[in-house]
Amino acid sequence: MDKVIFDTDPGVDDALALYYLLRHPGIGLIGVTTVFGNAPVAVTTRNARFLLREWGADVPVHAGAAGPITPDMPPEFFPAHIHGENGLGDHPIDMPVTEVADEAAQYLVDTIRAHPGQIRILAVGRMTNLARALQIDPGIAGLVRDVVLMGGAFREPGNITPAAEANIWGDPLAADIVFGAAWPVVAVPLDLTTRTFLDRRQLDRLARDGGPGMRLVADLSQGYVRFYQGVGYDGMLVHDATAAVYLTDPDLFTTVAGQVRVLSDGIAMGLTLMNPADRQGPAGAWEGRPAQQATLDGDPQAILDRIARIC
Ligand code: BDR
Ligand code: CA
Repeated sequence: MDKVIFDTDPGVDDALALYYLLRHPGIGLIGVTTVFGNAPVAVTTRNARFLLREWGADVPVHAGAAGPITPDMPPEFFPAHIHGENGLGDHPIDMPVTEVADEAAQYLVDTIRAHPGQIRILAVGRMTNLARALQIDPGIAGLVRDVVLMGGAFREPGNITPAAEANIWGDPLAADIVFGAAWPVVAVPLDLTTRTFLDRRQLDRLARDGGPGMRLVADLSQGYVRFYQGVGYDGMLVHDATAAVYLTDPDLFTTVAGQVRVLSDGIAMGLTLMNPADRQGPAGAWEGRPAQQATLDGDPQAILDRIARIC
């Protein structure tokens, strides 16, 4: 079984991704790390603990960054109109929000060092915890099996600004550090995730015929579905679960390889730029950066079928 650490900001689509990881027989979820993003980190941490408790999963949760490492960021913005005030669609949660210690980066370092060559990281929030782990111990890059992240918009417009996808925009310097490290990164960007959505009928069917935890996912997704329908989609975009499917079924995705840089200020802050692997020699800002991958295409229907079969 693959040893996976899930770095997340639950978050409605994060919840579906977490359920997928717990249900998949090939995934051994060894830890969850949390980050600010869809809500403040104390809230996303409480949400991760709540979901795991509801699903009877005994997985440790380590709270992480409360804010970005990028200097001079605009004031924090939590998308309550998408994920609800409580981050889980305002579904009632009988667990208090408590103060949390920031320990995710050190946990990542220690765990990667304890299992050299084995850890897979699925990161579906701001990249802050990963970047800070690299800052603490750059040597971990060579010890991680791979990093799969939901983030970026390479050929498509962004979702938080015309240039940027939310996970990257929320801490662009952190994302630039993650793409520049010598570990294999696969980004699952909006280019694909804006084509993987579940409509209300499919969601209801899953809640009825899927695993016992799917009812909760469907309940907390109601406002999220309404949001996406209000902006012209036929259902809810399952960004983070799409990235989770990459871990288990990479054949359903088409990747493009190249060096990636992220703009960390200005009106295009958070823009993900790729220099394709077959273009030689741009110097300066690109020099020495490894080629990473982005899934610019794939088979959305097969990805959704996989989610439905597992969940
Ligand atoms: C990403 O941003 C978050 O709001 C979602 O959970 C997802 O990880 C989509 O841009
Ligand atoms: Ca997320």
